[in-house]
Amino acid sequence: MSRRVAVLGTGSWGTAFALVLADAGADVVMWGRRPELCAAISAGQGNPVYLPGLPLPPAVTATTDPREALAGADLVVLGLPSSSMRSVLGDLAGDLPAGAPLVSLAKGLERGTRLRMSQVVVAATRAAPGRVAVLSGPNLAREVAERQPTASVVAAPDDAVAEEVAHACATAAFRPYTHHDVLGVELGGVVKNVVGLAVGMAEGLGYGDNAKASIITRGLAQTSRLAVALGAEPATLAGLAGMGDLVATCASPLSRNHQTGVQLGRGLDVEAAAAVVRQTAEGVRSAPEVLALAHGVGVEMPIVEQVVAVVRGEVSAREAGRALLARDRKHEAG
Ligand SMILES: NC(=O)c1ccc[n+]([C@@H]2O[C@H](COP(=O)([O-])OP(=O)(O)OC[C@H]3O[C@@H](n4cnc5c(N)ncnc54)[C@H](O)[C@@H]3O)[C@@H](O)[C@H]2O)c1
Repeated sequence: MSRRVAVLGTGSWGTAFALVLADAGADVVMWGRRPELCAAISAGQGNPVYLPGLPLPPAVTATTDPREALAGADLVVLGLPSSSMRSVLGDLAGDLPAGAPLVSLAKGLERGTRLRMSQVVVAATRAAPGRVAVLSGPNLAREVAERQPTASVVAAPDDAVAEEVAHACATAAFRPYTHHDVLGVELGGVVKNVVGLAVGMAEGLGYGDNAKASIITRGLAQTSRLAVALGAEPATLAGLAGMGDLVATCASPLSRNHQTGVQLGRGLDVEAAAAVVRQTAEGVRSAPEVLALAHGVGVEMPIVEQVVAVVRGEVSAREAGRALLARDRKHEAG
């Protein structure tokens, strides 16, 4: 009998990952709020809003009834933005199938509490932490939905859960690795959105590849510093969920964080940039939370600091770049 998977959220990544799960042999029922979108998915028309022009396998259907999506699921995938995770799961906690692993796809920190999404999932559902996994890596939704090759990381405190989730999403094009460092994998995904904004700003200012490579490299160094101070393993940040995801976000015009950064670099404010990109990028919401987290453990993150100042309208992207270049010289490894 094939595996039954519920995917909460019918956005870009939830939909692309539903396709991966179906390609790996699962029957997937997605839950979304928009009846016309769910009807289109179930009628075999793909997801015309978030992934137009890309067909989905017949094993992917969608419903507006969360109980219908969750009933009998062997695995529950959370394809929601971090800003909605707690409220949605709080409402649905009683309907989650007992014992099924819960997999977060979201890359953000909860505003105010600064909790990572796996922590929010545990708090909102009261699930055992061992049941919660996260998936992260260089996985731009559209490329994944086009079945272009990529690798990813499934991290969980329980190796058997990580293995089960990886098995459920392994296809000829999607190669999941397992990991136990949930904290490192999640932080890599959170901070790369903020560094992606900074690289986009450099591009919007007309700077070249040297500037972008310098921000990517220093951004990763600062991310590693924070993650290790919080208890992550340094090697995690050199892996797919750290360097891999950062490079994809910073290189790709498909990334909404990158696109938003470009608009900020061109001089737009954060609302105008969101209007152009037609969405608030996760990095805009996460940047102040990441900075507060870093201050809490005494870690300096100059790139994040400057992104926060630009997002708040305190400095222009050009002034932020100048401030980074004017910092006191130091040892690269310091
Ligand atoms: N897009 C990508 O390429 C990509 C890749 C990897 C990870 N992610 C992460 O995955 C998460 C989801 O990203 P996305 O790109 O799919 O976002 P999206 O904006 O395309 O989709 C989010 C979905 O959640 C739904 N949603 C939002 N609030 C809701 C609520 N209160 N109740 C019910 N549904 C609600 C929206 O209607 C939409 O269907 C984010 O944290 C993102 O950082 C995205």
